[in-house]
Amino acid sequence: MNAGIIGIGRYLPEKVVTNLDLEKMMDTSDEWIRTRTGIEERRIAADDIDTSDMAYFAAVKALENARISAAELDLILVATVTPDRPFPSVACMLQERLGATKAAALDISAACAGFMYGMVTAKQFIESGTYRYILVIGAEKLSKIVNWEDRNTAVLFGDGAGAVVMGPVSEGRGIVSFELGADGTGGKHLYQDEYVVMNGREVFKFAVRQMGESCIHVLEKAGLSKQDVDFLVPHQANIRIVEAARQRLELPEDKMSATVRKYGNTSAASIPISIVEELEAGKIKDDDLIIMVGFGGGLTWGAIALRWGR
Ligand SMILES: CC(C)(COP(=O)(O)OP(=O)(O)OC[C@H]1O[C@@H](n2cnc3c(N)ncnc32)[C@H](O)[C@@H]1OP(=O)(O)O)[C@@H](O)C(=O)NCCC(=O)NCCS
Repeated sequence: MNAGIIGIGRYLPEKVVTNLDLEKMMDTSDEWIRTRTGIEERRIAADDIDTSDMAYFAAVKALENARISAAELDLILVATVTPDRPFPSVACMLQERLGATKAAALDISAACAGFMYGMVTAKQFIESGTYRYILVIGAEKLSKIVNWEDRNTAVLFGDGAGAVVMGPVSEGRGIVSFELGADGTGGKHLYQDEYVVMNGREVFKFAVRQMGESCIHVLEKAGLSKQDVDFLVPHQANIRIVEAARQRLELPEDKMSATVRKYGNTSAASIPISIVEELEAGKIKDDDLIIMVGFGGGLTWGAIALRWGR
């Protein structure tokens, strides 16, 4: 039995905050942000929209897309570092709101790699035959933990949510290989006290190295080569970081998602948000081999090679 994605949905807040808007709030410039990060604008959630609301909107779409009801879900996993509150978990809040009466529920804390951790966890339950349908969500309201007076971090992040329903898929499709990893010694480079604190240069070096390595590792584990890759969906942290991963895989520009330009870094939500974008643009098709790869605070990382389709 292969576990794969059988439905997907996303939610992005309506409010667009451009670099020019940020110029009015702090000592920065559109030119600096574009050249250093690739980001042109990001979405920021309204005051009365929290992480669980965005997760819910994305989940409803994913369930519709999967053509299953919430009552059929066996497990809900929400990857987030910005839960509404420490407990109950966002996953439990969704369990009630969706009416997923038989589902177990928990949040996953693996920062920007959280969605990779969630998908790999779901795969284990599905392929062992323990559970059939699992909702995996990446949802973040980073705007509430960003210091809007710190130009080093405030310009980078955005809000949003992406959700997938995972379940058994046809032979040859679904997750073909994965890698997860962590290095707690790097925890000091990216963490939250009251606000996000980051040593940008250290995180940048780690990200460039780890994203490339993990892409190669999942291909090796699957017995595949760079030439087999149809599309790359990296965690959208910074255009220079994702470009390094693309070059490592020797892929042309149009074979990688670069939604960081429009949405900034939405942490655990960035990979599913980007997949929806590329599906809508016709860039991901059935039987394509896609590589997803993420990294984040912890430090954590994860990559998945997946053959698209139900
Ligand atoms: C943050 C990041 C964009 C900075 O880019 P960089 O090229 O490394 O820039 P530097 O750290 O060399 O900083 C250059 C200067 O720009 C300044 N600067 C930082 N943010 C700025 C901003 N928003 N606007 C204008 N200037 C800024 C710095 O203060 C520094 O000035 P100084 O040299 O006088 O001290 C980059 O390091 C990065 O993307 N790191 C990874 C971050 C990440 O992905 N985090 C999330 C992980 S999930």
